[in-house]
Amino acid sequence: MGEALRLPVERRYPEEFAALLFNDKDVKPPGWRMSPRSVETFILGSQGRELEYEEGGEARKAVISKKFYGDDVLVQRAIVTLASDRGLLLVGEPGTAKSWLSEHLSAAVSGDSMLAIQGSAGITEDQIKYSWNYAMLLAEGPSKRALVPAPLYIGMRDGKLVRFEEITRTPHEVQDSLLSCMSDKVLIVPELSGEDGSVLASRGFNVIGTANTRDRGVNEMSSALKRRFNFETVPPVEDLMDEMRIVRSQVSSLLESSKIEATAMGDDVLELLVTTFHELRRGQTTDGIKVEAASSMMSTAEAVSVGLHSTLFASFFGSRKVDPEHVVINLTGAVVKENRDDLKILRNYWEVAVKPRANKELGLWKAYYKARKYLK
Ligand SMILES: Nc1ncnc2c1ncn2[C@@H]1O[C@H](COP(=O)(O)OP(=O)(O)OP(=O)(O)O)[C@@H](O)[C@H]1O
Ligand SMILES: [Mg+2]
Repeated sequence: MGEALRLPVERRYPEEFAALLFNDKDVKPPGWRMSPRSVETFILGSQGRELEYEEGGEARKAVISKKFYGDDVLVQRAIVTLASDRGLLLVGEPGTAKSWLSEHLSAAVSGDSMLAIQGSAGITEDQIKYSWNYAMLLAEGPSKRALVPAPLYIGMRDGKLVRFEEITRTPHEVQDSLLSCMSDKVLIVPELSGEDGSVLASRGFNVIGTANTRDRGVNEMSSALKRRFNFETVPPVEDLMDEMRIVRSQVSSLLESSKIEATAMGDDVLELLVTTFHELRRGQTTDGIKVEAASSMMSTAEAVSVGLHSTLFASFFGSRKVDPEHVVINLTGAVVKENRDDLKILRNYWEVAVKPRANKELGLWKAYYKARKYLK
């Protein structure tokens, strides 16, 4: 078998999980793999502190990396909700780490981030609950053996978190099929009788939904379902330095998993890239000059993608060192999507925000300004 392009979170940080589990002295909510405090440390990091642990009789140490930047209390509230009888709904603009947070929370709480349902207009109830092995169904009639469990069934049976991505893109009748599972904690299989005819949710079961504010209105969630969730709005990253950290670490882990040799982007080039995203998102430069905001979401996820593409570009077609022009060459594909006017906005940004810095001979801004010819 080929090598996996992307490992699930529960397999991505074996040392961190071993260290957290070894040091976990706090009480775990029933069905949880670790205590709320350890889940929090897994998501927010140990701030450089080394956790000592033993594995195979050997003494080891691990630092827990920071995985989510932003409001720490948001993460704590999310953990509290997951231990309660209500589901957690992460809402926000595209690319604000809703799915990222949901994967990391499920891996920490349940040791499994793979029980995921991808909401879409075409989704059906059997993709959420269960379907049948039709050959066996025809041969033997409905039986537990012929039942093919889907993520919600497995999560309830095994007491695990179930992730429901893009829940608002799902038709109402399918959304509503979640109701009894979430409030009565029971999933009925009408085709089977007796004990096999229902799954009582085991402790540890809950649902983490994500919903994109730009998709809302496509299928506004039913109010009955809304009442089963606590909402957490995940805002875009506010701090420039935090966003630089995210892009740096994401690009390096994507490069590592791609197994393509490339030289990491220098901090000076990274700063140009992240500043551009930051300012075009806010519609204002850090010096307070107004710029027109791009209509496309200048999300951190897109910044990561431009960072990766620039690095690959420099490695394939340049001298490996990432230059400002590599960023500009790879920028339009991420920014100019549904609206060609965004190209004008980008060019205008170069005149209003980049040029003055180039004129002051600040860092690499001059080279960045010179590369504006690639904005097309
Ligand atoms: N606050 C943040 N902390 C850490 N990483 C972040 C943050 N914001 C964005 N990212 C990064 O951006 C990427 C985008 O995340 P993700 O796919 O989870 O976005 P999303 O909110 O689910 O977007 P969509 O609504 O389009 O599905 C992730 O790789 C993540 O590392
Ligand atoms: Mg998502």
